[in-house]
Amino acid sequence: MTDLGLPHVHSGKVRDIYAVGDDRLLMVTSDRISAFDVIMAEPIPDKGRVLTAMSAFWFDQLADIVPGHLLSTDLADLPESAQNVAAEADLVGRVMLTRRADMLPVECIVRGYITGSAWKEYSRAGTMHGTRLPEGLLESARLPEPVFTPSTKADEGHDENISFSAAAELIGEALAAQVRDVALALYQRGADWARERGIIIADTKFELGLADGELVLCDEVLTPDSSRFWPTDAWEPGSTPPSFDKQPVRDLLDGLDWDKTPPPPPLPAKVVAATSRRYIEAYERITGRPFADWPGAGG
Ligand SMILES: Nc1ncnc2c1ncn2[C@@H]1O[C@H](COP(=O)(O)OP(=O)(O)OP(=O)(O)O)[C@@H](O)[C@H]1O
Ligand SMILES: [Mg+2]
Repeated sequence: MTDLGLPHVHSGKVRDIYAVGDDRLLMVTSDRISAFDVIMAEPIPDKGRVLTAMSAFWFDQLADIVPGHLLSTDLADLPESAQNVAAEADLVGRVMLTRRADMLPVECIVRGYITGSAWKEYSRAGTMHGTRLPEGLLESARLPEPVFTPSTKADEGHDENISFSAAAELIGEALAAQVRDVALALYQRGADWARERGIIIADTKFELGLADGELVLCDEVLTPDSSRFWPTDAWEPGSTPPSFDKQPVRDLLDGLDWDKTPPPPPLPAKVVAATSRRYIEAYERITGRPFADWPGAGG
């Protein structure tokens, strides 16, 4: 964390969040990486900038579906008192100044492919999120159509899957329907876009909130940290595809006798560099823009 002279609101595994006045937030994305929910000791160079740049790209692309919370990624738009510290702390390119929303107490998960916990449920019970699916789907298969599978937003511990009607009880029927439709439209647009560029977005989590009564897309959007990215050319139903971004780390950890609790094993420099390259490649494929053009890239 950096002392920016701003009230600290929250820190997650990867991001630190500060208040800017009453109605805005500053989200700083670090280079930290987690695997199996454990933060690795070594940062991944440029990862925070990639996630910031990618979210900014998507907020732009998706604005006609729902407005995004992003106001600026420019240090010059921070409160003047924070700008120098931010520059010295290497925050250029990794900040998002956003509108502050009242977050809906629902995680808007959309799945286009069956994997992870959804695959576990299906192989056990033939259902996903409690709803029966066609028989004979293979692991990682593309679903007949994307499905909205909301969950609660647990402050601690694991989020819990909830039905659409449970979501409607939490936020009201009309808003729940709007949120479902928006989440599906966002996923559809993003996944189609990425697929044409060699990346499958298997599933993702959106977070929506209300700002001045308006539904707003918050948090990060369609990044490898909020979604599962797979290389399309390595996708083969019946197996778990490699992670587009984290596979070098996964491969290392799979080969070790580590019990997935802290402290994490050290990441060799080669693995760190390969992972950094994967994040940058994901950004460049999706946006068609050279990452070198992003403020602070390579710094
Ligand atoms: N525009 C916004 N207004 C208010 N809160 C927001 C906004 N955008 C995101 N948030 C909230 O900020 C928090 C971001 O936290 P972050 O993702 O960094 O950590 P976390 O969710 O606690 O843990 P993890 O590291 O596992 O993701 C979330 O609670 C999210 O709902
Ligand atoms: Mg989070």
